[in-house]
Amino acid sequence: MDIGVLREAPGETMVALSPDSVRRLSQAGHRVSIQSEAGTNAGWPDAEYRDSGAIVSPQLEEVVKASDIIAAVEAGWDLSIWRLARPGTAVVGLLKPYAAPTELFEAMAQSGITALSLDSLPRISRAQSMDVLSSLSTVMGYRAVILAAERLRRFFPLLMTAAGTIAPARVLVLGAGVAGLQAIATAHRMGAIVEAFDTRPEVREQVESLGASFITMDVQSTHTQDGYAEELAEDAHQRETDRLAGPVARADAIITTAQIPGRRAPILITSDMIREMKPGSVIVDLTAETGGNTDETRLGEEVDFAAIRILGPKKIASQLPRDASQLFSRNLANFLNYLQEAPISWDPDHHLALPDDDLIQRTLVVHEGSILHPGLRQRIGEGGMVDVANS
Ligand code: NAI
Repeated sequence: MDIGVLREAPGETMVALSPDSVRRLSQAGHRVSIQSEAGTNAGWPDAEYRDSGAIVSPQLEEVVKASDIIAAVEAGWDLSIWRLARPGTAVVGLLKPYAAPTELFEAMAQSGITALSLDSLPRISRAQSMDVLSSLSTVMGYRAVILAAERLRRFFPLLMTAAGTIAPARVLVLGAGVAGLQAIATAHRMGAIVEAFDTRPEVREQVESLGASFITMDVQSTHTQDGYAEELAEDAHQRETDRLAGPVARADAIITTAQIPGRRAPILITSDMIREMKPGSVIVDLTAETGGNTDETRLGEEVDFAAIRILGPKKIASQLPRDASQLFSRNLANFLNYLQEAPISWDPDHHLALPDDDLIQRTLVVHEGSILHPGLRQRIGEGGMVDVANS
């Protein structure tokens, strides 16, 4: 397959494929073209890509036209790019069909592009090697703790010095999915005393094995077939916030990660609870993009409220672009290999034929001029059909 990699849109520091993945793909018989400086922000100069077997081109247009598949992080480029691609070209990335501008997918449909989004893969063992959500959540959980430690006016670990003893910081982690567990592990390694809570009781053991204590309360969520938590009933939600008041008040740093797929993130920390916290404490809310776990979270901002610093970072994984790209790239390359083995194929007119494979079908957002992702079709509200003839 001819695989293209472009410099991501401004604001995105990651790159879809690392030199290491390019080498593996080249060895497997693929041809990789990459736009000049696509990997610079992640720490990989063009020369490393050349050494790995990629064709480096200064021309975006050249890369797009030569590609059967464009490997992307979020594909947030100017929409005119899709008119450069040959119909039948596929784009693979973390396309966020439930949140990204609908115009992106409409432009792809109009240009006959097939869009495959890795965030729609089921969270099952068979798809684990391609699970970009877990990779990026790992980066996010780690980075959130580093941000909290940077903003906090005190040490994380216990220090015994000639000038006296400094007590360790107390860190509270809400939501113990992939990001939450990584936050717990990182804060514990840095010497903090860590408490955590998740509505899925089965994570208690994992939380405790990472050195944190699990907050006990009579609040449990049901979960979907895919293992995601479902929204709590109103009374259970109230019981949870009541029970969290004490742990919130005694925490120096709080990392919040609680999410319900497809819904607004639940408010777990109200303004009144923040007022009871110790001055100078910090909250890093990883759910700002889905509404936030606190009343005071603002997406992309650092807010001071009642002497508490509240961070609602956007694209936090991009703050660690090298390792985030490295993990993302391995997942993406594994998916490309999966596509090849499935197999997908192009006829001489560059018409793309997709096999009836459950994983591929789950990731399919746009194909042959139609928008197929149910959530996206709902957002567009017009049945998802794009009038190709009149576009
Ligand atoms: P997520 O980002 O959707 O949510 C984070 C966490 O918030 C979840 O653990 C959820 O239970 C929790 N949460 C929701 N409402 C809450 C509330 N009111 N209070 C406290 N916590 C709340 O979750 P993530 O990290 O994407 O994982 C989702 C599921 O997928 C998990 O069950 C995980 O075990 C599973 N998974 C499976 C994998 C596999 O088998 N390949 C790989 C990764 C995840």
